[in-house]
Parts: sequence; structure tokens; C-alpha cells
Amino acid sequence: MTRLNGTAPLHRLRYPDGHVGWLITRHSLVRSVLADPRFSARSELKRVPAPRPGADPFIGEPALPGWLVDMDRPEHTRIRRPLSGRFTMRAVDRLRPRVQEIVDDHLRAMRETGPPADLVASFALPVPSLTICELLGVPYGSRAGFQRASAVLFSLEVTAEQAAEAMAELDALLLDLVRHRHRHPSDDLLGKLVADGGLGDQEIAGLGVLLLTAGHETTAGMLGLGTLALLTHPGQLAALRADPGLLPGAVEELLRYLTIFHFGVPRTPLEDVELEGRLIRAGESVTLSLPAANRDPEAFDDPDVLDVTRRARGHVAFGYGMHQCVGQNLARAELEIGLGALVSGFPGLELAVPVEDVPLAADSGFYGVHALPVSW
Ligand code: HEM
Repeated sequence: MTRLNGTAPLHRLRYPDGHVGWLITRHSLVRSVLADPRFSARSELKRVPAPRPGADPFIGEPALPGWLVDMDRPEHTRIRRPLSGRFTMRAVDRLRPRVQEIVDDHLRAMRETGPPADLVASFALPVPSLTICELLGVPYGSRAGFQRASAVLFSLEVTAEQAAEAMAELDALLLDLVRHRHRHPSDDLLGKLVADGGLGDQEIAGLGVLLLTAGHETTAGMLGLGTLALLTHPGQLAALRADPGLLPGAVEELLRYLTIFHFGVPRTPLEDVELEGRLIRAGESVTLSLPAANRDPEAFDDPDVLDVTRRARGHVAFGYGMHQCVGQNLARAELEIGLGALVSGFPGLELAVPVEDVPLAADSGFYGVHALPVSW
């Protein structure tokens, strides 16, 4: 990626169906395209470099109700506005004590059971799952079903039909909860969206599926992969243990270095646009590589080096522009609290298997680890 960045800011890219579009890797250009309303996020225009076989519910079709990530203004604003206030820094600060409790409970249970443990099953997956369940108002008892369906939804290796089935399952779960809120009002986010009355039931259910799935799968990936990165960079781990004040910066650096949203963000220009002297024609496929942008040497010195002391803010791990991640403050809080407690509470933490045996989740739209066997 660093090599691609060295050659040019944008490149011709042949998609699997043979048509040729564009791949953008330079950090500054990725940000300017993501902030440019001439580049549409509408799913009916989107084409991706790694399509799933069959009729994908997210590609080449109009956005599913509530799926703001596949919409342009003004629809996007209409769906996103009711969320404002719930995910601000201040709102997330109010959630921190509960996140700390959830983290402490899971680490205590892991310690009591004793080593070895799978850090994904006992910590990285349940912590963000329970957090987003409580925030939305989804019963945590339904986790086995929604975690499995969510993994299918984001898998790059299932057929499009399997993804559509998983989506239908999640949609039914959320729609049921939304309808229940009409009869039994509640203070959780689903209850608030129903009480607001601005969105239809189907839209709230779709938005709920997006928040539930993006809200746990991503952060789980970062907790697992972030721990693996620290365990395989003992100098960085030691620096963090010696100075917990480095934690917020370390989280930004891990987000940059790992960039788990690894499969490329698709956009389509609605009109001809000139970028860096090249003409991108209306309707051509454009893929933005967030991992490449976050390893651009023009934006970050020695970008392939993990350095928890660097200033990594300005990375695009959460995207950029109007679609920038709704849940970024929550994710940061979960990562800071989760990794902080793990690093300080388990001084002897180590991998329980050779690093080559850790099953990496390269088959998922969000990079992570399927399991992380650890000992202490
Ligand atoms: C959007 C990454 C956590 C909900 C995005 C985008 C990225 C991203 C790259 C932009 C996609 C695009 O432009 O097409 C991440 C990462 C996370 C994380 C790396 C964790 C480390 C979360 C959490 C939630 C969430 C915890 C929910 C509470 C969303 C939503 C959008 C989004 C709803 C769509 C926003 C829009 O289209 O306006 N995320 N995310 N994400 N994320 Fe996250």
C-alpha cells in the first residue's frame, strides 16, 4: 500500500466483472472525495472490488429502509439527525461507568475460569455486544442469533442469498422490538426513535440492525486485533503499561495501524470530476482504500510502524465526511476502557498459541480475529 501511494494518488482498477474504475489511496485525496457531495454513496450506483456471488441486498439496489450508509442528502440527513445527541462525546461520557462495569465483569469471569481463554469469546465480542444491546434496547439473550446473523451479513465468503437471509432475520428481530415499543414506551434508543415519530417502523428497524451489527462486530474486531498487535509488539505494550496516559493516543494509533474497515469504501461520481489532473467520469466506479490512506507516508511518518506515542488523529479508520462513523466516540471509549483494563489487570498476558495459528478474519468485511487463545 505504501508502495502504491508512492507511485500515484489514484490508480486504474479492474473490477471482477471486467469494467475499469478507480482506486484512491492517498490520504488527502480519500478525505477530499469522502467530503465531496458530487460523489454519491447510493447503493444502487455502488460497485465493489470483491462482490458476493448472487443478488446482493446492499449492492446495485436502492438502500434498505434506515440504511443511511447507502444514502445521499437529504435522505441521509433525515435518518441520521434523530441519532444526534446519543453518540456525542458528552453522551458517551455518561455511558463510561457502565462500559467499565461490563469490562470488569467479563475480565473477572475470565480470571476466575483461569487460563487459557479465548479472548474473543470471553471479552472482545461480549463487551461491545452487551453495550450496544443496552443502548438500543435489544435483549442480550438474543445474542447468539444476532451475532451469527451479523457475521454472515459482513462475511465476504457467503452468497448474496445467505446475506439477504441474515438481513431478513435481523430485520424481523428489530421490527418486533420496534412494534413492542408502541405499546410499551422505553428510554432506550429504539424507544426514543419510536416516540420521536419522525421515522417509520421499518426505517427504525433497519437503522437498528445497522447500529446493532456495526456496533458490536467492529469494536470486537478492534479489541481482538488490537490485543494481538500489542502482544506481538512487546515494546509498545511495555510503554503502555508504564504510562497509562498513553492510552487514548494508543487507541488512535491502533485504529490507524489496523484499519479494520479493509475492503474499500465505494463511491460513484454524479458528474464528471477532475482529480489531480485525471478526469473521473460520471458513473465510473471509485473505491477508496482506508488502509492505504492510513499508511500514506505523506500523512504519517514511518506509516508501517506501530508507535503508540505518535499523534495518529486525522486517520480515516472511521471514514470521513457526512458518513463518518456514528459510533466512533462509543468505540473509542470501549477500546480505551477495554484495552486499559486488560493491559493493567493481566501483566502476564501472552498468546497461548504460535502467532501463525491465530485465525485472522480476512473473510469478513471488518478485519479481526475469529479467536484469540491467551494465557497469563
Ligand atoms: C460508518 C468504521 C464502530 C455505527 C462507519 C464508516 C466506517 C466505520 C469506516 C464509514 C462507512 C462509509 O463511509 O461508507 C467503524 C469502526 C468501528 C466502528 C472501525 C470500531 C472500531 C461503530 C459503532 C457503531 C457504528 C460502535 C454504533 C454504535 C456506524 C454507522 C455508520 C458507520 C451507523 C453509518 C454512518 C453514515 O452513513 O452516516 N463506521 N465503525 N460504528 N458506523 Fe462505524
